[in-house]
Amino acid sequence: MQPINKVFDEFADKLIDEHIERRRVKKSEKPDIVDVMLNMAEIGSAEIQVSWLHIKAIITDMLIAGVETSTTTLEWAMTELLRNPQAMSRAQEEIELKVGRDRIVRESDLVSLDYLRCLVKETLRLHAPAPLLMAHESTQGCNVGGYYIPPKTRFFVNVWAIGRDERVWEDPLEFKPERFIGSSIDVNGHHFELFSFGTGRRGCPGIYMGFSSVYLVVAQLIHCFHWNVRGRFG
Ligand code: HEM
Repeated sequence: MQPINKVFDEFADKLIDEHIERRRVKKSEKPDIVDVMLNMAEIGSAEIQVSWLHIKAIITDMLIAGVETSTTTLEWAMTELLRNPQAMSRAQEEIELKVGRDRIVRESDLVSLDYLRCLVKETLRLHAPAPLLMAHESTQGCNVGGYYIPPKTRFFVNVWAIGRDERVWEDPLEFKPERFIGSSIDVNGHHFELFSFGTGRRGCPGIYMGFSSVYLVVAQLIHCFHWNVRGRFG
């Protein structure tokens, strides 16, 4: 068995090689993030010289940060739907009404699937895949809630606890997507009741991709299949 870092390393090398080869043959009309980084490496800048190692590190960082978080959220969304058949029926009815039965749900349909959007938010509230976000460090001294925080203090934000705080949420342990209907609270980092993607400059750069992929895959899974729990648990 190969250590996981070797697998990632080889994958990133192969991806960069493929991009270099493709660019040699023809300039890409739709450059992706690897093309952009290769351009930066070629052009260079006074501020930072992008190297092969930087590109590899960023590819690996995005893979690690983007895959596990999205799949964990997806698994929790499906688990909560199986535990809450009423929410499942309501989400399926919404899709049948807006999309029908003749085709698969597309990304362009998502904007009309309001209940489903609430459902993904509710999943993130209860099951943030990064419950303590990432470690942060203060650059300057500041006061928070009456406490002085010196510069260079390492701190963790417990979004898991914030998502279950009964001072903020009614019936915090219940899975109730309805709570978000008509609510202005969103996961975009502007609402400190729910910020499973973090906030500010170190917030998740993949927020829209992460949210939309969970949203789309849940929609397709519950649209195409009937789900229930059988056997020992049923
Ligand atoms: C449901 C899906 C996702 C969730 C819940 C999530 C959540 C997070 C969180 C909490 C952080 C740390 C923010 C902080 O500490 O303030 C983060 C960072 C990051 N995320 Fe995501 N993420 C998701 C999907 C993605 C995707 C799809 C990508 C890329 C394709 C991605 C790329 C990144 C990267 C590169 C960072 C590190 C940013 C930095 O260096 O500070 N994430 N994410």
